[in-house]
Amino acid sequence: MGVEGARPHRADPRIFGERARTREGRLQVELAHLTWQRSRLVRSWTHLERQRGGFGFLGGPGETQIETDRRLIVERITKIKKELEGVKRTRGLQRRARKRVPYPVIALVGYTNAGKSTLFNALTKADVLAKDVLFATLDPTMRGLRLPGGTKAVLSDTVGFIADLPHELVAAFRATLEEVLEADIIAHVRDAAHAETEAQKADVLAVLVELGVAPGRDRAFVEILNKLDLLEPGAQAGLTARAAERLDVPAAVSALTGEGLDVLLRRFESVLTGGNIRLHLELSSSDGEGLAWVYRHGQVLERRDDADAGIVLTLSVHPQEAARFKSRFAEKVSAEQPVEADI
Ligand code: GTP
Repeated sequence: MGVEGARPHRADPRIFGERARTREGRLQVELAHLTWQRSRLVRSWTHLERQRGGFGFLGGPGETQIETDRRLIVERITKIKKELEGVKRTRGLQRRARKRVPYPVIALVGYTNAGKSTLFNALTKADVLAKDVLFATLDPTMRGLRLPGGTKAVLSDTVGFIADLPHELVAAFRATLEEVLEADIIAHVRDAAHAETEAQKADVLAVLVELGVAPGRDRAFVEILNKLDLLEPGAQAGLTARAAERLDVPAAVSALTGEGLDVLLRRFESVLTGGNIRLHLELSSSDGEGLAWVYRHGQVLERRDDADAGIVLTLSVHPQEAARFKSRFAEKVSAEQPVEADI
């Protein structure tokens, strides 16, 4: 949806419905809409009653029509509620399945039209992981991403934030943002060229707080100034240079031209790996139990199955885990060096 210029004040439920990307979101929006329709029907019923004197038998096709409409709406509401329960169960299962995917999740959030989807596609389009079977079963708004130093992550696109969301839509909105609550990094995409970019930022942060996330405190947070190409060349250069040098300023990118995406990916990696170290490990091909242990305790950056050497692994692990690797695998662990984080 292109909401150019002024910020929308009351979002149209139908527009939001079209934008709701998950099945749960769409059902929630329909439910909100039907509930609203039902309340309108009740109002017109009361109005009709008043017009006809208010009491007693109300005949005629008008009344019958209202009754029928009402019954249909109630039936549809009941059906949607059932469907929603089913969808929620499935999502729960999917989430558990995803938990078994040992990759951290980066969730893109931001005001509507900030460029999240464009960035999502730009970051994942060239990535072979996107075609990985593992991800084919996940939500279409999630895709695998391989960061420059080999770290794997899942990138998640979310629905755009809108100011003054109608009350009936808050539940739908929250449902579509469930991913955010579980993300390892919240990446806030901003339209740097928008006249109200600061107000939009404040809105987004307020919604996050309302959802119960404290960006930067309970969760890693990366701010991304997008649409760099629309800024004055001087401003572009300044933001890009600062972002390349420092981690505590917003990343600066153009999802459209691709500028700054390499720096952004490195920044994601450096936030995710923190002080992780890299280990090499050679396991015998028959050591299934050892291999399972490795996958539970570290992130496998590379795996080579070698006829002579067995399974050769490159791992990124937390320093505390590194000690456990050494005690479990002794001399099979080697060549330790910091995971690349050259920003
Ligand atoms: P919602 O789905 O509504 O939340 O929007 P979104 O944040 O996903 O934005 P989307 O990716 O749909 O982009 C909105 C508009 O901005 C589109 O017309 C994009 O082509 C445009 N856009 C996105 N990134 C850039 C950018 O870096 N530069 C320029 N000039 N335009 C961009």
